[in-house]
Amino acid sequence: MTPSASSPTQEKSLTLHSTWQKHLKIGLFGFGCVGQGLYDIFTKTDLSAEIVKICVKNPDKKRSLPASYFTFEGQELLENTDINLIVELIDDAEAAYQIVKRAMLAGKDVVTANKKMLALHLPELIALQEQTGTALLYEAAACGSIPIIRNLAEYYDNELLYSVSGIFNGSSNYILTKVIDEKLSYEVALKEAQDLGFAETDPTLDVAGFDALYKLCLIAMQAYGVAIEPASVFRYGITALGAEDMQFAKEKGLKIKLINYVGKVSEDEICIFVMPQFVDEKHYLYDVNYEYNGVIVEAAFSDKQLFVGKGAGGHPTGSAVLSDISACRYNYRYEYRKSRREKALQVTQEVFLEVYVRYVHKSDLEVFDFIEIRERYEGRSYGYVIGTVCLEDLIAKRERIERKPIFLAALGKKPEKAVLLPKKTQQTVFMV
Ligand code: HSE
Repeated sequence: MTPSASSPTQEKSLTLHSTWQKHLKIGLFGFGCVGQGLYDIFTKTDLSAEIVKICVKNPDKKRSLPASYFTFEGQELLENTDINLIVELIDDAEAAYQIVKRAMLAGKDVVTANKKMLALHLPELIALQEQTGTALLYEAAACGSIPIIRNLAEYYDNELLYSVSGIFNGSSNYILTKVIDEKLSYEVALKEAQDLGFAETDPTLDVAGFDALYKLCLIAMQAYGVAIEPASVFRYGITALGAEDMQFAKEKGLKIKLINYVGKVSEDEICIFVMPQFVDEKHYLYDVNYEYNGVIVEAAFSDKQLFVGKGAGGHPTGSAVLSDISACRYNYRYEYRKSRREKALQVTQEVFLEVYVRYVHKSDLEVFDFIEIRERYEGRSYGYVIGTVCLEDLIAKRERIERKPIFLAALGKKPEKAVLLPKKTQQTVFMV
């Protein structure tokens, strides 16, 4: 299908396809930023594939392609037995879930970029893949153009993975870069991220860390074979970032990044969280700026590796969708071998983290149970404390933490398995 064609089905009919690959007939849901990005890329490739029809929601919206390319009825795609691949690129997670389920039950392979939908329904969708013999691929759902999902599923299949961490949200990284490095206001930076097509329709998903969390859950599954409910994870975003925190970072030569972490803390336990973090210039993510994402994979034998690439935007994300479409030609699917391990890994919250808490009212610090305090500052209008807290405690109090006029960030010390004293004798140790 090319922009000048009158009928989408007639296009690409001359594409050569050899016996090792199946010819794909695609039903595309969504023609927003990523859908259009994919379309642009698609028309420049010679994949043995054609886009049969595009289903969109809004009949009044002006489109860049002739009206004959579009339908407003999802069933036109889902019930078309000619279509063997559904590419789902809408941003409504519930509608996407229904589309994906129906497509797989109809025996169609699915490529999706919908991280929220996947993170909320992953175990069920994996079972559905198994039951229907279809493929469900989602490289574009995590970190845009960085091929981290397939790498974790295949390349790191037998590696002892210590951790997978990094910047998984392009919009918040764009905002942080603009606000901290370029001194733009938060509002202007957010507007730019929206105008450039990086942000979610509801940008709270970006700046409050939800989007990053959904991606982290997908990565946790591919890295460790563990299904994690997003609601069980400690998530704290960048919305409360203030001038005082940027001042702190500047004085210490640090930058602030919204970091996702999943990693081993013992032989059979992993911990997981999303939180801003101060990083110094030696940190692998210090120079990962704007809409770029960075994924650090630490493993026993390959050691520490950094993947960097554009994490948002039509073309970068579209390129990951295209790669999945291409993989469908040779019946590729994720095998989830790690989730079939004899001894499944457990998720623990008994983990010590070193954090910075900036406050206005000293009484707000009471929400935190510091195990120890390493540094303290008290000025006229605000103060901060750097100390060790337990992840379990942060999770228990996360709503209260989010409501307080404070800013919380990690200092980047490796999370450590907590060795807690029995509750009765446990005491807060202050080391100022
Ligand atoms: N809103 C997302 C981001 C888009 O900014 O990373 C890509 O998933």
